Amino acid sequence: MTRRSIGIIVNGVTGRMGYRQHLVRSLLAIRESGGVPLADGTTIWPEPVLVGRNETKLRELAERHGLTDWTTDLTSALARDDVEIYFDALVTQQREKAIRQAIEAGKHIYTEKPLAEDTAGALDLARAADAAGVRTGVVQDKLFLPGLRKLKRLVDGGFFGRILSVRGEFGYWVFEGDWQPAQRPSWNYRAEDGGGITSDMFPHWHYVLEELFGRVNAVSCVTATHVPERVDEDGRAYAATADDAAYAIFELDGGVIAQINSSWGVRVYRDELVEFQVDGTEGSAVAGLRNCRVQHRAVTPKPVWNPDLPATEDFRAQWAEVPDNEEFDNGFKVQWEAFLRHVVAGEPFQWDFLAGARGVQLAELGLRAAREGVRVQVPELQR
Ligand SMILES: NC(=O)c1ccc[n+]([C@@H]2O[C@H](COP(=O)([O-])OP(=O)(O)OC[C@H]3O[C@@H](n4cnc5c(N)ncnc54)[C@H](O)[C@@H]3O)[C@@H](O)[C@H]2O)c1
Repeated sequence: MTRRSIGIIVNGVTGRMGYRQHLVRSLLAIRESGGVPLADGTTIWPEPVLVGRNETKLRELAERHGLTDWTTDLTSALARDDVEIYFDALVTQQREKAIRQAIEAGKHIYTEKPLAEDTAGALDLARAADAAGVRTGVVQDKLFLPGLRKLKRLVDGGFFGRILSVRGEFGYWVFEGDWQPAQRPSWNYRAEDGGGITSDMFPHWHYVLEELFGRVNAVSCVTATHVPERVDEDGRAYAATADDAAYAIFELDGGVIAQINSSWGVRVYRDELVEFQVDGTEGSAVAGLRNCRVQHRAVTPKPVWNPDLPATEDFRAQWAEVPDNEEFDNGFKVQWEAFLRHVVAGEPFQWDFLAGARGVQLAELGLRAAREGVRVQVPELQR
C-alpha cells in the first residue's frame, strides 16, 4: 500500500470550527481511520500545518495532539513545496485576503463558508482560482447530515410526488453574555466585523435548497436585531449591530415555496436545532440533523377544525421514522475526504468556489430584500 502524504495549511485552527470540526473531527479523524483510500490502493495521508497568530495557543494545541508542524508565518507556510492545500477557517472578514495569497502561491483551496463578504469578492476568487488552475472547495456540511441525507433519499426515491413547500426552522437562544457567557463568538453580532445571521446561514440554505429541491429564483426577507446589546468574551458590553434573525421566503423551480426562519433569539421547542418540513402531494417529511420522519398520503389522518374540543389525536405519533440503512460519518470529514480525492485523484467535486459564490449571492440578495422591503430575483452567476 502506498501512502500519499499531502501537506495542508489549517489557518484559523485556534477557532471553534478550525479546531473542533476540521482539525480534530476531520483531518485527525481521517488519520485515525487509516487515511483516505483511493481505487488504485494508494492512501491519502493529511499532514496538517497549523497556522495562527498566537504562538502560545498554537504550541499548546499542537502538543495536545502530538503535532509538531505549526507556524505564525502564513507566507513561509505557503512557500513550502510539500504543502499542496490551503484551508481557511478564519473569521469571514479575513478570508478573502488570505485565500488570494494562497491562490497566488499556487495552492489548492478548501474553505469554510461564506467564501467572501460579498458576491463580487467571491466571484473574483473563483475567477482567480480558475486562472491559476487550482482546485477549490467550500464547506457545505449540512448536506452530509444524516437527517438531510435521508431527506435526499426520499426526494430521489419519489416519495413526495410533487413537492409543494418546505418549512425550515433554525435557531436557539444565544446568551447575551452578561449573566451567562454567550456560546458563539461576539464578532457574529457585529456587522462591522462580518457578523449577521443572514450571511452566516443563507449560504447553507442555498445549497440545501438547491441540492434537494431546486434552483432558488427569488427571495423575500425580513431581518431583525432582536437583542441590541451583548457582552463580549472580555466581559465588555457592545452594540449588536448585525441581524440576529432572518425570516425568509425562497421561491424555487417547480413552484416550490421554501420558508426558513433563522434566529439566535428563539428557544427550542423542537426535536432538533434545525428542522425542515417538506410537504408533497404524496407524502410529507420532517427532517432534522439526525432524524427524519414521514407521513404518507395513504395514512394521513383527517383532522377537523373544532376549537371547542381538546385535541383528540397525538399528531406526532402518526409519523414513521426513516431508517438509517447506512453508517453516517461526521459530515465535515466526509466532505474533506471527497475534497482530498478531488485534489489527489481528480475525482469530481461539485462544491467549488462558484457554488460558494452562489451562497454568498443569496445572502447578499436576502439582505437587500430586507433593506428595501422588496422581493428580489436571483440572477445566474457566470464564471
Ligand atoms: N460550516 C458551519 O457550520 C460553520 C459554523 C460556524 C462558523 N462557520 C464559519 O467558520 C468561520 C470561523 O467561525 P468560528 O465560529 O470558528 O469563529 P472563531 O471566532 O471561533 O474563530 C475564528 C478564527 O479566526 C482567527 N482570527 C480572528 N481574527 C483574525 C484576524 N484579524 N487575522 C487572522 N486571524 C483571525 C481566530 O484567531 C480564530 O482562529 C467563519 O467564517 C464562519 O462563518 C461555519
